[in-house]
Amino acid sequence: MTTFQAYRIDKNEGQQQAGIETLSFKDLPEGDVLIKVHYSSVNFKDGIVSQPDNPMVKEYPIVPGIDLAGEVVESDHDSFKKGDRVIATSYEIGVNHHGGFSEYARMPAEWVVPLPDGLTLEESMIYGTAGFTAGLSIHRLEQNGLKPEDGPVLVTGASGGVGSMAVAMLAKRGYHVEASTGSAEHTEFLKRLGAESVISREDVYDGNLKPVKSARWASAVDPVGGEQLASVLSQLQYNGAAAVSGLTGGTNIPTQVYPFILRGISLIGIDSVQFPMDERKKVWHRLANDLKTKELFDDIKVVIGLEELPETLNQILAGQTRGRTIVKFG
Ligand SMILES: NC(=O)c1ccc[n+]([C@@H]2O[C@H](COP(=O)([O-])OP(=O)(O)OC[C@H]3O[C@@H](n4cnc5c(N)ncnc54)[C@H](OP(=O)(O)O)[C@@H]3O)[C@@H](O)[C@H]2O)c1
Repeated sequence: MTTFQAYRIDKNEGQQQAGIETLSFKDLPEGDVLIKVHYSSVNFKDGIVSQPDNPMVKEYPIVPGIDLAGEVVESDHDSFKKGDRVIATSYEIGVNHHGGFSEYARMPAEWVVPLPDGLTLEESMIYGTAGFTAGLSIHRLEQNGLKPEDGPVLVTGASGGVGSMAVAMLAKRGYHVEASTGSAEHTEFLKRLGAESVISREDVYDGNLKPVKSARWASAVDPVGGEQLASVLSQLQYNGAAAVSGLTGGTNIPTQVYPFILRGISLIGIDSVQFPMDERKKVWHRLANDLKTKELFDDIKVVIGLEELPETLNQILAGQTRGRTIVKFG
């Protein structure tokens, strides 16, 4: 019987236990495609899922890990065959369906994306959900009409996963990127990724909210939310947009109608989880082509083994990680 290692969280009489366990294929959920996982990655959401009182996990035990990339070893679905290299992110993966912190995973075929030409499995996980979300944010801003000549584009939470990937991708596309961070020690890192200027969170939001202020940015990629986002909205240029994906700065957006009706701005919601598969493949194609930031991957990635995962999950919740942490198997 094939056995393998996985990081699994269980609950007994209300007490949470988590650790590396030896599992077999019968421990995996049903699905059409059995994947030998080569890489996973660590996202903020994995940190939340690992918390005892998180509202997302409906049933235990759960193997977290919202991202995985690997090779198909068995498939009951016409779309995939043994040996195919694939990516699986989003949907219920790592939340209510065993995910990527495991040497093997079994997935419904509808959740699996063929690895696009031009990407390695490792690169796909350096992107992972964070990179996909950054790419999707830029894709949606460009659908809204954004072009490099429109002016500076702000990225908030810039040293995090979504933020750092967005900085690198926008710079690659020729945008003037202004990166906002609460971690001044990451200034050089952000400049290496392509930020023209690095500003503090306080420069974006000085504690003083007004409906509209001087217009500074053509658009913004915002994985932070909260008052920072309200402040961003008040400083967008005419017809600008903010693509909002996250909530590390809070869930309440204390804004008013004025920036919308006086400056024609748009607030674009970014959801990587249920984003439709046809469009999802297009964004992955862009990540392998015009958004590809290959030369920066080595700077962004931190590679760990499964045994280092518990510490990394705590660090990501405490905002102590930088760039993208990937888990390597084998
Ligand atoms: N909508 C979607 O589909 C989707 C997909 C992926 C992620 N997300 C969400 O996007 C957010 C970012 O995810 P991630 O993986 O990039 O996380 P991450 O790597 O932990 O980065 C988050 C960054 O946010 C900034 N930050 C942290 N606490 C803050 C605070 N109190 N106020 C302002 N900024 C703060 C920090 O950047 P600085 O130190 O540089 O300021 C931090 O590095 C999370 O809320 C995540 O759940 C959503």
